[in-house]
Amino acid sequence: MIYHTMKTVFIHNIQTLYGIIDNRNVIKKSGSEMSELLSINNAFILIENGIIASYGMFTSNAQIPLGAEVIDAQGGLVLPTFVDSHTHIVFAKSREEEFEMRIKGKSYEEIAAAGGGILNSARKLQNMSEDELYESALKRLNEVIAFGTGAIEIKSGYGLTVDDELKMLRVVKRLKAVSPIPIKATFLGAHAIPAEYKQNRRGYIDLVINEMLPKVAAEDLADYCDVFCDQGFFTVEETDEILTAAKTYNLKAKIHGNELGYTGGVQVAVKHDALSVDHLEYTGDEEITSLLSGNTMPVGLPHCSFFLGIPYAPGRKMIDAGLPFCLASDYNPGSSPNGRMSFVVALACIQMKLTPEEAINATTINGAAAIELSSTHGSITIGKQANLIITKPIPTLAYIPYAFGVDPVAKVLINGNIFTDIQ
Ligand code: NIG
Ligand code: FE
Repeated sequence: MIYHTMKTVFIHNIQTLYGIIDNRNVIKKSGSEMSELLSINNAFILIENGIIASYGMFTSNAQIPLGAEVIDAQGGLVLPTFVDSHTHIVFAKSREEEFEMRIKGKSYEEIAAAGGGILNSARKLQNMSEDELYESALKRLNEVIAFGTGAIEIKSGYGLTVDDELKMLRVVKRLKAVSPIPIKATFLGAHAIPAEYKQNRRGYIDLVINEMLPKVAAEDLADYCDVFCDQGFFTVEETDEILTAAKTYNLKAKIHGNELGYTGGVQVAVKHDALSVDHLEYTGDEEITSLLSGNTMPVGLPHCSFFLGIPYAPGRKMIDAGLPFCLASDYNPGSSPNGRMSFVVALACIQMKLTPEEAINATTINGAAAIELSSTHGSITIGKQANLIITKPIPTLAYIPYAFGVDPVAKVLINGNIFTDIQ
């Protein structure tokens, strides 16, 4: 029997409610719109059955609906949860050994070329069972939701064999089934050329196109297709070919590009009308012109720059050029072993010179746009899911990036429920 119980939640004592978008047609913010973060001081929110039903200023004669569960925000701020549009949270083991090699002077690319990096993670993942992978990924999912992530994208790309890529995506499918937050799955078979194909790149591209893609599509395991289009990884021509094949299975593109050089990743992403092109540490005027000509969302991954000691994507410059700009965690064992989006916001402000308002738009509504969830997530809008962060009683919004590394989150609500771990 199905019981239809109406659940009403009323949150009050909100110092300031941020991230209001009253027009449901707004799916992303670009250029100067990114500095608008509509807010209401001394606010309330009413949630019905997990959906934002109303919000406004809390006045002394306000009527709290009978039977509502009342949550006291204790003077904290309330924001929409973060949308993390780029992660690799299905992985086998952490990689501290490479971290220590980098401390001693080896570069990320040198380690990768010597068979470390992604290939190191692939060896570890190939030796782990689907169940073990699922359990460890579920832990990470619980961890990032508690940090304030309320929608997420997860990539494959540490399998690099037909069976192991499918294994990773089946783990993502199992996570989708239990997760209270939406998950988008991205097939990233073209993450690196496996060691056994080093002398036979063509063989691996054929495997991705002729074996992996059809099987991924037949089991409906992915929403998107990604390629690491960069120096030492996949060329523009190879990327073009893989994305063309992916399109025949209705898989839209999301690209890793311009992390290690001006390699044409941006241009090939725009050519394929990719949903996003991510990394962008090497982005100049030509890349900006290309992005301005299309709809592809540029995504910065500042954890990666911080952790690898490489340049930051020129977020300020892209916003000033009128582009939308999105930020994500890139949570993965090689370049960002941390999925805390409030630290992404801090680095965006400190290193990319985004304002706190821009950084919040980049991690909420624009994150939602990068994984096609803007109609349900990414802002305080009547009719959207009530996925909310209630902060500790901090003085201002700017305090979040200012007090970098300090966790601002007091409570996370997912679909109107206070989040407790998925079991
Ligand atoms: O987004 N750059 C490519 N892929 C991942 C890192 C992969 C790894 O080192 O394990 C990234 O940074
Ligand atoms: Fe990545």
